[in-house]
Amino acid sequence: MRLGIVVAALLAASGAARAQPCDRQAFEPCQACHALTRDAGQKPGPQLAGVIGRPVAGDPAFDYSPALQAARDNGDVWTAERLDIFLADAEAMYPGQWMGSPPIRSAKLRADLLCVLGGR
Ligand code: HEC
Repeated sequence: MRLGIVVAALLAASGAARAQPCDRQAFEPCQACHALTRDAGQKPGPQLAGVIGRPVAGDPAFDYSPALQAARDNGDVWTAERLDIFLADAEAMYPGQWMGSPPIRSAKLRADLLCVLGGR
């Protein structure tokens, strides 16, 4: 019991002292479908390693929807701004896309996600 309290206090202290500005927890729901490494493994979505600055539909190992393939053919690149709009409402941006994840209305959450995706 007492040990648990000490461990909790230590965890809280180390968390506060960490110089990591990104809230990595924001990415947890995405992890079911996306990896942040070049190898996506068996995930149902494309890997997102270095996605900011990458062409839309840029994981060569992933079979994208016609909507995202058309965006890539159009020369679209994932800037932070484009990604912010996509996360806020993917369907409005690229109608017919296949990402089965609800729009993220919270600007704070989207900023945290961009932080994680930017690798910062
Ligand atoms: C249920 C599975 C699922 C979840 C959860 C999910 N995604 Fe996706 N995501 C996909 C799929 C599938 C695609 C490809 C869509 C297409 O081809 O139209 C995609 C595409 C993307 C792309 C474009 C990738 C590229 O290479 O162009 C980004 C960025 C992205 N998702 C970010 C996120 C983030 C951030 C989250 C968490 C908030 C998230 N996704 C949650 C399945 C998911």
